Amino acid sequence: MSRPPTREYLYKILVVGDLGTGKTSIIRRYVHNIFSTNYKSTIGVDFALKVIQWSPEIIVRLQLWDIAGQERFGNMTRVYYKEALGAFVVYDVTRPQTFEGVTKWKQDLDSKVALPEPWGGGRIPVVLLANKSDLLQEGHGQPINQLEMDDFCRQNGFASWFDTSAKDNSNIDEAARYLIQTIVSLE
Ligand code: GTP
Ligand code: MG
Repeated sequence: MSRPPTREYLYKILVVGDLGTGKTSIIRRYVHNIFSTNYKSTIGVDFALKVIQWSPEIIVRLQLWDIAGQERFGNMTRVYYKEALGAFVVYDVTRPQTFEGVTKWKQDLDSKVALPEPWGGGRIPVVLLANKSDLLQEGHGQPINQLEMDDFCRQNGFASWFDTSAKDNSNIDEAARYLIQTIVSLE
C-alpha cells in the first residue's frame, strides 16, 4: 500500500502590535513553551520557526516574524512584511491605548502587504489577539465585550479574535490553528 505524498508548506506569519503587548512572550510560549516576566524590548525583528504536522499529509513550517512595537514609527515594516501570508495583531487588555494601536497596525498591514498572485492578491488573513487575559481575571482592566469585539473584527477586516495569555498559555494554540486553517484553505 502506498501512502499519499507528504506536502510541505512554508508560511511566513507576522506578529505586530504596540510596545510591550506580549508579542515575544506569545511566540516564546507557542514555540518553546516558556514564559518570563522580564521585559526585554525587541529591537527590529526576531524570528522563530515552528514545524507542525498539520494532517497526515501536510507539514506546515511556520516562520514567525516578531516585529518590535517600536517599528510602527520606523520605515522598515514594508521590508519586514514582504511575502507574509498571515498576521497576528496583539494588544494588551489592561492598556486601552494599545487597542488604539490595533487599527493603526491593521492599516499598516493592509497598505503594505497582499497575498501572492496565485491566491488572488487580496488582503492577508489577520487575527486579533487580546493578550494578558490572565490579568483580567485578577481584576485589572475592563472585561472584554464579546459582541463588540466581533463587530470590531467585522468592521476592520480581522478574520477573528482570541483572548490569550502567554503567562497561562491560554488560547495561543487555538489562535494559531485558526490562522493556519485559514491559510491552508487558500491552497
Ligand atoms: P516589544 O518587543 O517591545 O514590542 O514588546 P512585546 O510585545 O514583545 O512584549 P513582551 O513579550 O516582551 O512582553 C512585555 C511584558 O509583558 C513582559 O514583562 C511580559 O512578561 C509581559 N507579558 C507578556 N504576555 C503576558 C501575559 O499574557 N500575561 C501577563 N501577565 N504578562 C505578560
Ligand atoms: Mg518583543
